[in-house]
Amino acid sequence: MQDQLNAILAKAAAELPAVRARPEFEAAKARYVGPNGEFTSLMKQMGAVPKEQRPVVGRLVNEAKSRLQEHLDAALARIADAELAAQLGPVVDPTLPSPDAGPGTRHPLTLVREEMCRILRKAGFTVADGPEVESEYYCFDALNTPADHPARDEKDTFYFPAGARFGNVAKKTAGERYLLRTHTSSVQIRTMLKGAPPIRIVSPGRVYRRDTSDATHSANFHQLECLCVDRNVTVRDLKALLDYIFASLLGKDTKTRFRPHYFGYTEPSFEVDLAASHLPKVNKPWIEIGGCGMVDPAVFEAVGYDPDVWSGYAFGMGLERLAMLLYGIDDIRYFYQNDVRFLRQFA
Ligand code: DAH
Repeated sequence: MQDQLNAILAKAAAELPAVRARPEFEAAKARYVGPNGEFTSLMKQMGAVPKEQRPVVGRLVNEAKSRLQEHLDAALARIADAELAAQLGPVVDPTLPSPDAGPGTRHPLTLVREEMCRILRKAGFTVADGPEVESEYYCFDALNTPADHPARDEKDTFYFPAGARFGNVAKKTAGERYLLRTHTSSVQIRTMLKGAPPIRIVSPGRVYRRDTSDATHSANFHQLECLCVDRNVTVRDLKALLDYIFASLLGKDTKTRFRPHYFGYTEPSFEVDLAASHLPKVNKPWIEIGGCGMVDPAVFEAVGYDPDVWSGYAFGMGLERLAMLLYGIDDIRYFYQNDVRFLRQFA
């Protein structure tokens, strides 16, 4: 029996490394361990082995079986590697220069962001930045948005686990949680806490909400925030600035209107609509573009400004929506797909 087992193993060791393709492998496997295979037939003879020899012979057969399986596994692994290599094609040298080294182009969101910042700089605003990871204080509390406000709900907002640490994002109070900012309004607070009025800042950036992605929603999008703090600032200044920036970006035929609304950080608060029927694909008389209002005295108090001395306005809007209006884009998802056929149109 041992001689027969050794003979089968020797044959397998000689034959299997030469097998190159799957059908050939399957045939070889059947010759050894198929229903009529050599090894199978040998196993069938176990019944004839005298009882007292069975433990010894059994061990030999088991050892041979696992050796045979090793040969089969090795052959199959080699064939699978060869198949993958054939699928991948010729070897690539990643150290060679890219054949497509043409200059890139600006993303449409970058174009709109830069244009808005340019327009606002002309009106005396400077660009301010804030972290995308925020703490509840900057995103909500200091903005007069209490703990039971729907925007703070777990199902609207991405919170980090309680133990998460971000050494570069200072928390204001112990025990508050970190989250991905739901709006750029948090930069208002960071800016005011850093210095004294007068303040005129524009802050574009990425924001995050638990939205299901569709043609007009994305869990990650961009906003542009503005804050002006000075003496004797009025709603008229706010309206004039919005008229100016939208006319500059979208053309002088663009009109704006305010609708009363509620935001915790402004009083009064408005939603801003645009009329821009001269733009491609605009088929509604008024399109909602953002929120605004006069800075609430409670916000000034939170940052230590005297609300009897200082007044101000703030607004925030979605950059995607502006870019969609300007360029006639009808699906927000195009911005994130990196399809060069889409991106090249803005070169
Ligand atoms: N943060 C608001 C939002 O994300 C937009 C907004 C409304 C910003 C009013 C403001 C404001 O600065 O005053 O929907």
